[in-house]
Amino acid sequence: MQDRTARFTSLIQHVKPGKIVELGCGNGLVLEALSKRFSESIIVGLDEDLEALEKVLEKGFDNVIPIKADITQKIFPDRTFDTALFVASLHEVFSYRGKKKVRVAFQNASDMLMDSGVLIIQDFLRPPSRLVKINFLNEGAGKRFLRFAREFRPRKVRYEEREGVVGVDIADAVEFISKYRSPDEEDWQEEMRETHFFFTEEEYQEMAQRTGLVIKDFKKLPTDKSWWGAIREDMELTLEPQYLWAQLVLTKSVS
Ligand SMILES: C[S@@+](CC[C@H](N)C(=O)[O-])C[C@H]1O[C@@H](n2cnc3c(N)ncnc32)[C@H](O)[C@@H]1O
Repeated sequence: MQDRTARFTSLIQHVKPGKIVELGCGNGLVLEALSKRFSESIIVGLDEDLEALEKVLEKGFDNVIPIKADITQKIFPDRTFDTALFVASLHEVFSYRGKKKVRVAFQNASDMLMDSGVLIIQDFLRPPSRLVKINFLNEGAGKRFLRFAREFRPRKVRYEEREGVVGVDIADAVEFISKYRSPDEEDWQEEMRETHFFFTEEEYQEMAQRTGLVIKDFKKLPTDKSWWGAIREDMELTLEPQYLWAQLVLTKSVS
């Protein structure tokens, strides 16, 4: 949670106050931080999940308007907002609607910004491809990996196994770790449809440039410490703690 707060702090310093929209706001953690920091701004939270929006409403923010909408559709007139944010929502668009819809969501976000507006993105970062090894310390962990490799739908997981040690691409290794502690079968099934590590640094940059936005800042942020703690007893990996979050700050104009 502390790591998450640090990520929000890093994001908030780039926000331009005035009219702000969060695209895929969930139950409002980012909205809460925005509402506190920018009490004079009008803040809109968009999500397609009505239950999440009800939770936003229950929080009783004075300056936040929750709206049910699909962020891959055109929702607002051009040049409405000073700042737009995607926080951990684009990987879901990629997983459930495909890469083309990520492009559409980017374009819509760009269109709804005023000429000097800012688009901020924080989402998972796919590490550059390389082979890593996972040494499973108990049978259950190894079996869980094999199930992941069989059932993960967004891409084929290729691996080689020798004497309980698996060699696999780093993106699939971190994807597996992100799902390893899935609490129940329903959550596991959902996770098997979703990829977190969808874009590399280059792919984020390419998407931004295709939309005609100017990259003002690109940062890699570390993943939560608790993430590694959750697997330590069950497996050893040949990968050092990674920067598994990307933060992009984009503007519509060069100035
Ligand atoms: C992982 S949550 C992140 C919520 C929030 N931004 C945060 O960081 O706490 C992703 C949210 O994006 C929403 N989402 C995904 N695809 C969407 C779409 N096409 N239209 C609207 N909301 C979408 C989901 O409903 C979910 O609430």
